[in-house]
Amino acid sequence: MSAQTQAIILAAGKSTRFSTTKTKLSYTICGQEMIRFPLNLLQSLGIKTTVVVGYQQEVIRAIISQHGYSAQCIEQTIQKGTGHALLCTKKQWSAKTLLILNGDAPLITQEQVTQLINHHRSTNATVSFIASYNADPSVIGYGRVITEGDTISIVEQRDFTGDPAKECRLNAGVYLIERDFLEQTLPELETHPSGEIFITDLIKKASETNKHIEVVDIPFDSVRGINTLRELWVAERLIRSKLINKWMDNGVRFTSPESVEIDKDITIGADSIIGFGVQLKNGTTIGKGVTINSFSALNNASIADNVTIHSHSTISNSTVKDKALIGPYARIHRNSTLHTESVIGNFVEVSKSSVGPQSKAKHLTYLGQTTIGTKVNIGAGTITCNYNGVSKHNTIIKDNAFIGSNSALLAPVTIGKGALVAAGSTINQDVPDNALAIARQKQVTKEQYASKLKNKIQPAQTLKQAHST
Ligand code: UD1
Ligand code: CA
Repeated sequence: MSAQTQAIILAAGKSTRFSTTKTKLSYTICGQEMIRFPLNLLQSLGIKTTVVVGYQQEVIRAIISQHGYSAQCIEQTIQKGTGHALLCTKKQWSAKTLLILNGDAPLITQEQVTQLINHHRSTNATVSFIASYNADPSVIGYGRVITEGDTISIVEQRDFTGDPAKECRLNAGVYLIERDFLEQTLPELETHPSGEIFITDLIKKASETNKHIEVVDIPFDSVRGINTLRELWVAERLIRSKLINKWMDNGVRFTSPESVEIDKDITIGADSIIGFGVQLKNGTTIGKGVTINSFSALNNASIADNVTIHSHSTISNSTVKDKALIGPYARIHRNSTLHTESVIGNFVEVSKSSVGPQSKAKHLTYLGQTTIGTKVNIGAGTITCNYNGVSKHNTIIKDNAFIGSNSALLAPVTIGKGALVAAGSTINQDVPDNALAIARQKQVTKEQYASKLKNKIQPAQTLKQAHST
């Protein structure tokens, strides 16, 4: 397939209708920039690809190189329409047939493009393109395929004066054209009053010169072009719902699928339950039997089997092993690891840290740059003070240690195996194995002093009377 066909992606346009300052092709849909959709498709088909870039070309070029696509970029210096964009690539043409795709049509599938290629070949066509019937008059922004007697042409929205319910075959912007026809015809296309050359005018030219034209019709949801943020939303919902359906078919329960944000590169094991408003992003992998409750956000997280994540927890760039319990309101980030059956409870932050098997930090704690062994108990309100304002340091808490509530551990510091830190301690020296460390003010208790003190204070009754007068 690849030697006979080469592909051109048109990606130089100005994104005017997006009304943003960024090219629309850099907006993500389920975690992937829009321009990556045609790039992925052509990469899977093994077709050599040229991308026409212009408006914010540095952004497009960066996406191409960051993700290692082998596509070559050609510059269209002034945006003079889709026909002109294609003409800019003329020197690159070498294959027998050119496959041209708009850069803003992420819903088209590899199967549909393959169908177009096969159809073009089997019918020996000169020009083939994809279209879709949609009689909804509110659908705007598409060229309409008009057949009059023997002639076929594409009339753009701005020039269309007919009945949209009748002339309702819409051009998808995916074309397969024989190179010799293109070389001859493309330079001859007229410039429209707007100063643009339309690739779509090639169809009329082919028709006028009695070339064989084929049209492959596919469902409208696959041809949708993205010109506006509204259309981006529709496309993302369609792609998202396909993804969610796929995971449902693999045994994943979504309690409120319409509220879930999910990227393309996520994997989820069977018997997992994904709650309301959950975000699953950026290569996150989820094992079997995992429960993720409402409003939790996972970004590049690796979650093993049977983990429970309570609501409002965020996990990014971190690993969670089997049967760990997290949240609600936990934050796990910066390359942290929670080992098997560990418990990270409410309002606990874990940063650049490892929490050993069956260790627990259940309430109101900060663990930063900390390595925690097995079966360690971190009391409520424990803080590892890893930053002294100048430099950052590590804390080590060994197996079976117990850190009493409201302790501050001043790094660098090591708490030995089985050691006990008394509640309210500020620890700035290492604690040996099995030792008890207490670092707090001694308690002073004055017998019978409470009632004496109460007598000294003005009785409440007197105060009340004073207020009411
Ligand atoms: C185009 C088609 C229309 C079709 C629709 C499908 C033309 C004239 N019209 O319209 O028939 O129904 O797609 O979605 O082709 N681009 C360039 N350089 C330019 C202009 C555009 O590279 O000078 C690129 C854009 O970045 C975009 C693609 O070409 O990726 C299509 O351009 P766009 O302006 O979105 O065309 P539509 O108006 O949608
Ligand atoms: Ca478009």
